[in-house]
Amino acid sequence: MEEKISQIQTEYLEQIQQAQSLKELDEIFLGLFGKKGQLDLLPKEFGKLSIEERKKVGPLFNSAKQNLEQAIERKRGEVRGESYKKLANEKLDLSDTKLITRKGHLHPVTRLENGVVTLFKKLGFTQYGAPHIDSEEYNFELLNIPQGHPARDLWDTLYIDPHNLKVSPGELLLRTHTSNAQVRLMKEFKPPIRMMIIDRCFRYENVDARHEHTLDQFEIVYIDKGVSMANLQYLSEYFFQGILGKDIKARLRPKYYPFVEPGAGVDGLCIFCKGKGCKVCGGIGWLELAGAGMIHPQVLRNGGIDPNVYSGIAWGAGPERMAMLKFGIENIRSFKSGDLKILEKF
Ligand code: PHE
Repeated sequence: MEEKISQIQTEYLEQIQQAQSLKELDEIFLGLFGKKGQLDLLPKEFGKLSIEERKKVGPLFNSAKQNLEQAIERKRGEVRGESYKKLANEKLDLSDTKLITRKGHLHPVTRLENGVVTLFKKLGFTQYGAPHIDSEEYNFELLNIPQGHPARDLWDTLYIDPHNLKVSPGELLLRTHTSNAQVRLMKEFKPPIRMMIIDRCFRYENVDARHEHTLDQFEIVYIDKGVSMANLQYLSEYFFQGILGKDIKARLRPKYYPFVEPGAGVDGLCIFCKGKGCKVCGGIGWLELAGAGMIHPQVLRNGGIDPNVYSGIAWGAGPERMAMLKFGIENIRSFKSGDLKILEKF
């Protein structure tokens, strides 16, 4: 037994001496002291020895155990020191590395909208905000579209489930147009009023290349003494030329909206064929870009404004439709799809 102990000790001390890494030392440690470790198994055999022998073997075993433990610990320190030294001397040369930076840019619709806002600020228009979740009252009723009126069919509406809210079904909705701001801002400000709303609207659409359930609108409300359709014609042309190019004329066509009288569809000269007629404009030479008109006297009254003193114009245009024309994008869904392949082109 004595021989066996000193043999294990010599053999392992040698291994410890030669070890190069902490991993090797761990393995050696387990080989000695692990569950089936060489040293750990020995005491099981002590039972077979005579008392005399045990008296000799015991201290020998203890000192071998201690020696080996200490040797492992010492070597661990050495190995660690070596690797720290190696790290301290290591140099990472980054002088040749090129940093790859990805530069983002504004979304094409945001860019167009920023341009529109700048354009109308120059004429004294201020931005106004109205809620995305609104009441039927502001989105429809105060705009001459009472419940059951057939004109409601002009807007595919998303209603809010009143579950747990203190409202009746059909009372709250996602606003279908920025016109929900009209009566609100009239109640808040006195004429002369020059305001613009450029923001999100929502519709229960059958989504296709030209229709989205979530869309932006650009609305202006201009109320003062003596405002007329001539102002509407002028501002429409100012708008289209500022965004699409100097040679884009505007024309007004009669169109029905319950909250304006007279109402108009505002067309811009087709930017592709300049009026000759092409595939994009369906051979007409003009593209409808906005709905507009003189604000209905009853709507002015709903906003606390006397229609005998003041008159106003309003329009709502689709910035996405204009961005499609300006940047030659065929599918309106490209804008909100988050598809970087498309967005990175701009
Ligand atoms: N709100 C109308 C729409 O969403 C557009 C419009 C705005 C028409 C202002 C007239 C006046 O279609």
